[in-house]
Amino acid sequence: MRKFLIDTDTASDDAVALCMALREPDIEVLAITVVAGNVPLAQAVQNALYTVELCDADVPVYAGASAPMLRDLVTAEDTHGQDGMGDIGLPLAGRTPTAGWAPERIVELIRSHPREVTLVTIGPLTNLATALLWAPDIATLVERVVIMGGTGAHGPGNVTPSAEFNFWVDPEAVRVVFRSGMPLEVVGWDISVASAVVTPERAAQVRALGSVVGDFALDIQATLASFVEHETRLAGPDFPDPIAMAHAIDPSPASIQRVGVDIAIGPDPMRGALIVDHYGFSELAVNASIVTNYPEPAFFDMLLRLLA
Ligand code: RIB
Ligand code: CA
Repeated sequence: MRKFLIDTDTASDDAVALCMALREPDIEVLAITVVAGNVPLAQAVQNALYTVELCDADVPVYAGASAPMLRDLVTAEDTHGQDGMGDIGLPLAGRTPTAGWAPERIVELIRSHPREVTLVTIGPLTNLATALLWAPDIATLVERVVIMGGTGAHGPGNVTPSAEFNFWVDPEAVRVVFRSGMPLEVVGWDISVASAVVTPERAAQVRALGSVVGDFALDIQATLASFVEHETRLAGPDFPDPIAMAHAIDPSPASIQRVGVDIAIGPDPMRGALIVDHYGFSELAVNASIVTNYPEPAFFDMLLRLLA
């Protein structure tokens, strides 16, 4: 059984990524740690607890950072809904997370399973950066770190022209992670746009599964579908976190580029922009594998298998 640790700002695409990991038979999800991002921390915790319960899983959920390291929290209810899950009336309240603080649990779990844990981050990196500042040794103990964030090798931003949401919310946290020495695999929003758009045809395939989890995965995208229709004008809601999770579950279909990456810290429009040193012009160390392609059929084959 492969051991996964998932850090999430649980909203409508995160929840689908959680379902994928929780339903993959050869993966043991050691814990889900929650960070503020799409929605405030308390709501993200409730959304994660609801999703774990929906999947009949016995996985602890720990609360973590309620705001970025050095900035005010900016949430994204306009993209995912006030409750983060499409505002379709799900009972997303009243559940209790496991006692423990996310950054501390990240450190303890990585230390107790040296070179066995795949850490998947699908929200801002505040919890991971906090863990690294306290325990830098985890950088050499973790097996893989798969990060949904940034704009990939050449992609556009989704919160400003140059920045993707997870990296824009807490760019200081991204810099801590990029400089940590962790084995980074970065899946940018460009990959979601290219290979994880839930077109009407793909949605029909999910609906045809006739499964509770499959219907859940589609129904909670109500706000995202509207956002996409009016803002990003994609052919359907896109799934950045699920395709990052697909890469974590099976990296074999992916094309990657080993490259030096950094993050822009300043004010907009540079805030949170991913700096990719394609030609080694700067003294940036080659510190990441950027996913440059993850084939759409491979992603949807896995998604349909895990939602069936
Ligand atoms: O930019 C996409 C990312 O921001 C995804 O993780 C989505 O859930 C939001 O957090
Ligand atoms: Ca997310």
